[in-house]
Amino acid sequence: MRVSVQVRKAVETRADVLVLGRHSDEARPGPETAAVDARLGGLLSRVLAAEKFEGKPGQVSYFFTNGKLPAARVMVLGLGGRRGTSADAVRNAAATAARRARELGASTVAMYLAAEGVPARARAQATVEGALLGTYRFDRYLKEKSAKALTGLTVLEPDARQGAAVREGARLGEVGAAATALARDLTNEPANVVTPTYLADRAREIAKAGRLRVRVLDREDCAKLGMGAFLGVAQGSQEPPQFIHLTYAPRRRARRKVVIIGKGITFDSGGLDLKSADGMLRMKGDMAGSAAVLGLFQALPKLRLPVEVHGLIAATENMPSGTAQRPGDIVRALNGLTIEIGNTDAEGRLTLADALSYAAKEIKPDEMVDMATLTGAVVIALGLQVTGLFASQDGLAERLGAGAQAAGERIWRLPLHDDYKEGLKSDIADLNNISSQRGAGSIVAALFMREFTGGVPWAHLDIAGTAFSERDGSLGPKGGTGVMVRTLIAYLTRAGGSRR
Ligand code: BES
Ligand code: MN
Ligand code: ZN
Repeated sequence: MRVSVQVRKAVETRADVLVLGRHSDEARPGPETAAVDARLGGLLSRVLAAEKFEGKPGQVSYFFTNGKLPAARVMVLGLGGRRGTSADAVRNAAATAARRARELGASTVAMYLAAEGVPARARAQATVEGALLGTYRFDRYLKEKSAKALTGLTVLEPDARQGAAVREGARLGEVGAAATALARDLTNEPANVVTPTYLADRAREIAKAGRLRVRVLDREDCAKLGMGAFLGVAQGSQEPPQFIHLTYAPRRRARRKVVIIGKGITFDSGGLDLKSADGMLRMKGDMAGSAAVLGLFQALPKLRLPVEVHGLIAATENMPSGTAQRPGDIVRALNGLTIEIGNTDAEGRLTLADALSYAAKEIKPDEMVDMATLTGAVVIALGLQVTGLFASQDGLAERLGAGAQAAGERIWRLPLHDDYKEGLKSDIADLNNISSQRGAGSIVAALFMREFTGGVPWAHLDIAGTAFSERDGSLGPKGGTGVMVRTLIAYLTRAGGSRR
């Protein structure tokens, strides 16, 4: 879909569908809507009155303009009440409008979703994000693809003074939505396509397109560095493991150095502690964290943030075989700690242990964040719409929270409760990879990983519930969600702005 910005009035806008917003508690329509209504001889207000249109979020009304306007149809979207309106209302309205316009066979839409208290730039960004994310489809394996598709989205701005802000917002919206779509695609692709080697190839492509540095370590390189935890997981698979290191460095001196790590298990069978058929079904998505990293690095060169960002992915399958890691094995991680394998299905924390150790030792960042489909337990705690956050530092947690808020993604902090570390003790190694105690599985996993952070401020996002959606939602169909890509962009934007 081609995205553009036009500084012009709604009544002068040519499109298959002209989209306008409406609050549930507005005394009278804004000037753009009033002008459209006047040009239509009051048709808009009569249709809304006849339909008892209240302006609730998600409410839609539309009709033909019969040649009275350059736009063929007008569509009005409910924005909810004026008080406390955020970019979320605009994003959701744009998504609904874009999907409905597509269903109606439209190919071009123009949107003016002015919501009270949402500045022009944020409004434009949310409009583009909503329209692009809301119409995302993964149809490359379908013989019969839908003939209906939007080809053009125009963000309208009647006030010329806001033109620059709207252009910048629309550009940011497009960058964030495209990065999210890449993460969704990678998550939706099956595990026979997305192998560790495939992820490495895509990382090289992204690096080439964005002039980023990329280094891919093979099994031997990883062995030399001492990544026994990562390689223990990898040893059961026929697919060679790949340790991917991407770097974005700003032109000017970086204000901060940040590492972003994504869990990259391209298929999690559980290993010898094999999962059930049901439990294995969606485990092609166990690389959603790495998908978010690749999405982010596609976006970074276009954002020009004053932050040095390193992306790490320890990519491997977790498979059962004659060479697979056994329960009871002991491995040594890069930071020297030995780990007894209590369960081969707790593999994510093992691969992340070496990625975190590598970051602390080789990169020495100011802070690091990992994203991982790590525990089934986080789904029990927070469900399918809220990402679990753990952080060793309050400031980092707050900036991630602010990023999530701006992106319209939900995260909730859980405690790194020290007492639970007790359960990770092993009689014969420094740590066990599972706890001997009941409950708090997500916290235990986070506590395990903290042992490998080398004291670097660190946050962990458990996206096991949020990376894959089982129902169609407003901002995307069921399947991979690309969750946390836009949150991380917003967080990194803040990381660059605030000084240490
Ligand atoms: N990849 C899974 C976690 C997961 C579960 C992601 C459901 C998405 C949906 C992870 O590797 C895993 O198997 N975790 C185990 C840990 C247990 C063995 C301590 C779990 O959560 O059951
Ligand atoms: Mn597992
Ligand atoms: Zn896993």
